[in-house]
Amino acid sequence: MALATERLLLRRWRDEDREPFARMNCDVAVMEFFPALLTRAESDSLMDRAEAHFAAHGFGPWAAELKATGEFIGYIGLFIPRFEAHFTPCVEIGWRLDAPYWGRGLATEAARAAAEHAFGELGLKELVSFTSESNVRSRRVMEKIGMTHDAGDDFDHPSLPEGHRLRRHVLYRKAANSQ
Ligand SMILES: CC(C)(COP(=O)(O)OP(=O)(O)OC[C@H]1O[C@@H](n2cnc3c(N)ncnc32)[C@H](O)[C@@H]1OP(=O)(O)O)[C@@H](O)C(=O)NCCC(=O)NCCS
Repeated sequence: MALATERLLLRRWRDEDREPFARMNCDVAVMEFFPALLTRAESDSLMDRAEAHFAAHGFGPWAAELKATGEFIGYIGLFIPRFEAHFTPCVEIGWRLDAPYWGRGLATEAARAAAEHAFGELGLKELVSFTSESNVRSRRVMEKIGMTHDAGDDFDHPSLPEGHRLRRHVLYRKAANSQ
């Protein structure tokens, strides 16, 4: 199903999204807090996993489209992380937008709608979100949608080796009955 916000349509993925998605996944600014840029094949496979997630769970990371222009600008949504950590199993809320669209409150607008959907329609009890400690933009979005951070929840990402600059992660949580 699709969700509409004031400026965005959060919808299922289409083949036309592959090219702009691959472009943003090999942009060093967009990928600053990920271990590597993605090849076209890796980007396609990420999109295929997003669609497979919807098929398997009834929710997933939506493709985000700017209503005013119809442009694909990235994704926002809900997913079940595949790694194990002290807070898994869980449902994560996450986002990745193309750099020209940053700083307009779009991620926050979409994330609020996604969280509302998660707690309303889907009846989830809790959402988590995590990112590298130094990803201040993403942490701001978490804070703006009312997620809270307890330093005792922070963790080393299991798929990153010791000493990796991105290994230390912060975990934010939001319960269904919180604002
Ligand atoms: C994280 C991301 C989705 C945010 O998207 P966005 O639409 O720009 O987010 P918003 O405009 O809703 O909010 C961004 C906030 O970060 C703040 N911000 C931006 N750059 C910042 C910086 N360098 N230092 C501190 N705060 C910063 C903005 O001021 C804003 O907060 P404010 O409303 O309190 O002023 C976007 O930057 C992105 O896609 N980044 C690359 C992918 C990524 O890192 N994803 C998250 C991985 S977990």
